[in-house]
Amino acid sequence: MRKILVTSALPYANGSIHLGHLVEYLQTDIWVRHQKMSNNDCTYVCADDAHGTPIMLKARELNITPEKLIEKSKKEHIEDFTDFHIEFDNYYTTHSEENRMLSELIYNNLKSNEAIERREIEQYYDENEEMFLPDRYIKGTCPKCGEKDQYGDSCEKCGATYSSTDVVDPISVISNSKPIKKKTEHLFFKLSDYEKFLNEWLTDNRVQKEIHNKMKEWLSDGLSSWDITRDKPYFGFSIPGEKEKFFYVWLDAPVGYIASFKNLCDKNSIDYLEAWKKDSEVELYHFIGKDIAYFHVLFWPSMLEGAGFRTPTSVFCHGFLTIDGEKMSKSRGTFIKARTYLNHLNPEYLRYYFASRLTSKIEDIDLNFNDFVARVNSDLVGKVINIGSRCARFINKDFDNTLASKSNNQSLIAHVLEKKNAIQTNYENRDFSKNIRVISSLADDVNKYIDEEKPWIKIKDEENNEIVQEVCSDGINMFKVLIGYLKPVLPKIAENVEKLLRCSPIDWYNIDQLILKEKIETFKPLITRVDEKSIEIIKTEAKED
Ligand code: 2FM
Ligand code: ZN
Repeated sequence: MRKILVTSALPYANGSIHLGHLVEYLQTDIWVRHQKMSNNDCTYVCADDAHGTPIMLKARELNITPEKLIEKSKKEHIEDFTDFHIEFDNYYTTHSEENRMLSELIYNNLKSNEAIERREIEQYYDENEEMFLPDRYIKGTCPKCGEKDQYGDSCEKCGATYSSTDVVDPISVISNSKPIKKKTEHLFFKLSDYEKFLNEWLTDNRVQKEIHNKMKEWLSDGLSSWDITRDKPYFGFSIPGEKEKFFYVWLDAPVGYIASFKNLCDKNSIDYLEAWKKDSEVELYHFIGKDIAYFHVLFWPSMLEGAGFRTPTSVFCHGFLTIDGEKMSKSRGTFIKARTYLNHLNPEYLRYYFASRLTSKIEDIDLNFNDFVARVNSDLVGKVINIGSRCARFINKDFDNTLASKSNNQSLIAHVLEKKNAIQTNYENRDFSKNIRVISSLADDVNKYIDEEKPWIKIKDEENNEIVQEVCSDGINMFKVLIGYLKPVLPKIAENVEKLLRCSPIDWYNIDQLILKEKIETFKPLITRVDEKSIEIIKTEAKED
């Protein structure tokens, strides 16, 4: 039995979960459910990312405390995740005592290991607001191409990135006043000291090929020290031993992975260090989006190494979500919140559709609504679910709910079961789209068998009773296997099928046990077809959200 700890990136506590986020949580949840079906000791933790300037300002705008804002957000996030059947073993917040303790511990260890340096820097300061301005809160003219109204760190016109102090005619986005340059002392993490470590960590196929190449590039360009300090006012943890200085949110955010796990362990009297100590046997995987790879493959492993903790086994990166081929956009009605979707469509449609698009690659994935309707209606409902409904009908009506005592088509059953190992491997490798294709093609084979046997005609002649019962029992048994194959993707449907068949929860060990001579329940519809009108309603509501 493998011991595995899994995380997804921590969503910020100042915004709702949207379909873009869900690519990652669904990818991770499917992977974790597969591990649990393998009887591995797999734990999935996450938390709200509760600190930083945007959260502080958002709370101010709403005239509530940041604590109130993050509490509301956590509750909303948990409801969204639960309704999408995303099953965390623990969902916490980075604004916790565990996280404060661990952030301080990691910082203090880094400091003792001489990985922290102190330097005076100059930053823009808003005198009206009495605060230093993060790059995103400065706008001005691009120093490279002269385009007006660009953010303090990069130009959307020419793509240049620069230091905010180079921006021409800067303006504070918060007060619309002209900021001044002001000196401040900051603490830095000496990332370049970890170059050798990172080069070693990189070997062993630890990250995907694209990330491997990117890391090589970053390492050969040379690493700069990382500013881990923010001045007051800031919503975060104050840095021990410093006056009015706070940890930058990106320092304590990944520490939140450990803190959430510790919070879970404490509830169960387990030592969290078993998973986090150096040379731990527990496998540790972080699922993230490609935009935050830098933090997870450079800063995070180096921080852990420098502080004497274990480092990640692997970091799994995915691409962004596009909708109907374009970036999500509010005006097109494609910036869709999880809740807006849930108000009109079944979460398992999206789980199935994303699974049909997800691979181990970092490519962007597209939610094409026409394809979404076709995949769900023709493949899932029309092929897979159809096997259950058409066969159960006969078993319920003509055979007193009882399955046959033997099979009529051992070779088809063997053919369906033969795919089990490949399916497990594809889940393990995050090649979910391959599985959806294989399962759909197996459903075709089973439907073809039933079509050829024509139970609806044969049942008219009593002599054929035995064969009809066997054919439909075969259908039910293969339906059970296919639903088992889909169980990581469709947990709710799988649970209802287990109830229908009165069988124990399907896993990778019992999936091939045939059910013979047993009684089943009356078939109830497991999922209906997508109503296309709902998609239009969602798009209209998304424009208003
Ligand atoms: O990019 C984001 O949405 C961050 N809140 C992710 C943090 S992941 C981890 F490091 F905490
Ligand atoms: Zn420019």
